[in-house]
Amino acid sequence: MEEWKKGFVPFELTESIWVVPPWCPTPEKVKKVILMEPGMAFGTGTHETTQIAAQLLSRALSDISQQKGEEKKGKCLLDVGTGTGILALLSRHLGVENVIATDIDLEAVRVAKENIELNKENHISVSNQPLDQMPDHSFDVVVANIIDGVLLLLQSDLKRLVKPGGKLIMSGIIQERWDYFEKHFDPSSFKFRTRLSKNEWHGVMWEAE
Ligand SMILES: C[S@@+](CC[C@H](N)C(=O)[O-])C[C@H]1O[C@@H](n2cnc3c(N)ncnc32)[C@H](O)[C@@H]1O
Repeated sequence: MEEWKKGFVPFELTESIWVVPPWCPTPEKVKKVILMEPGMAFGTGTHETTQIAAQLLSRALSDISQQKGEEKKGKCLLDVGTGTGILALLSRHLGVENVIATDIDLEAVRVAKENIELNKENHISVSNQPLDQMPDHSFDVVVANIIDGVLLLLQSDLKRLVKPGGKLIMSGIIQERWDYFEKHFDPSSFKFRTRLSKNEWHGVMWEAE
């Protein structure tokens, strides 16, 4: 663990928002910080799939701001498979007002809660609440960075939960599974917005009609 900690150093995730482990000083001039103690959960921000999701989030929120004429208030985001809570915390820096984060792994839920406390956040709620218990069209943005097979299994709920005009971001699709994913993802009532790739990983953003 001590050796691993030496390799986890502060870095910019996106838009001048930095991920900083609590055992490192924040670099000078860095104003926006996500303090990150990953424990046993996934989501330090160093993995391609998290970085793709982070960039798509930034794009989604700037699109929504433009559509709503710079109105930043009242946006609500769902982070499915939150892991450490990194994307939930990033969303708050990007201007989302309220975030619901879920994970089926109770250890991830515990770690995410700790990180939310570490970052003194009051507008993120974390649980293992199943998606099928959430009402239709609840969120401006739904983001899920989970392996492609799970994304496909969850696709009906992921799509159902996005408000009209809202964005659905999915990351975690590995190159060798891309064709399978494309064949089995049903984009009815969604418009394709963009695909982002890093090494062998892909993420996509859709907009609900
Ligand atoms: C690749 S990690 C992503 C962590 C973080 N969101 C990130 O972007 O770095 C995927 C997370 O999804 C969770 N997960 C897997 N299947 C899930 C499901 N059906 N519902 C909710 N979370 C799930 C895992 O426990 C894991 O924490």
